[in-house]
Amino acid sequence: MKLLVTAGPTREPIDPVRYLTNRSSGKMGYAIADAAAHAGHSVLLISGPTSLDVPVGVDFIPVETAADMFAAVATYLPRMDAAVFAAAVADFTPASLSAQKIKKSDDSLSLDLVKTKDILGSAREPLGFTGFLVGFAAETENVESNARHKLAAKGCDLIVANDVSRNDIGFDSHENEALLVFPDRTELFPKAPKHDLAIRIVSMLGE
Ligand code: CTP
Repeated sequence: MKLLVTAGPTREPIDPVRYLTNRSSGKMGYAIADAAAHAGHSVLLISGPTSLDVPVGVDFIPVETAADMFAAVATYLPRMDAAVFAAAVADFTPASLSAQKIKKSDDSLSLDLVKTKDILGSAREPLGFTGFLVGFAAETENVESNARHKLAAKGCDLIVANDVSRNDIGFDSHENEALLVFPDRTELFPKAPKHDLAIRIVSMLGE
């Protein structure tokens, strides 16, 4: 099958030398792209900046901002059979980009931020995607109920939910523990290398 994967953080520029980003390493999304290529799928990885090597046999589109990622996804999603949105997309971006480096002339500085487009939340409508749709949910509390709400709100077939308040799993870590939240059931995937969770997620595509 043809699979699209988003991965990594996004970078939202503030001025020519500064940006807003987050702690995503990209490891989970890259592991999924790698596992899917090994399983014989045709994989397109759309990723924000990471220090990882692109997995062998995977097509790759590098992006920086949430808006760039949205544009790349909108272009390629219609021809895909499945999509896994593992990117940690910035929810907010500076309202305006300063053409010059912002000077420290005052004692405080306020940044005006505006919401980015929800890429996963746009997959069904307006992008019209009908394939198998997997989202991630980074939660610090009420993990299962928040994930189940995202599953319904975004029209997903599966939400992979992480508790990001734990520092032994998730961001930057090689390991993950997740709740796999389907429309009709929830499964616990116990703590294991991200590679093992990636294989499990790939095995469910199209289930
Ligand atoms: N996501 C996305 N585009 C955004 C924000 C999030 O595609 N602008 C995707 C992520 O890739 C992930 C899912 O949405 O698959 C959930 O991300 P998360 O940050 O947990 O949830 P949000 O929808 O941003 O909701 P909240 O921050 O309010 O929990």
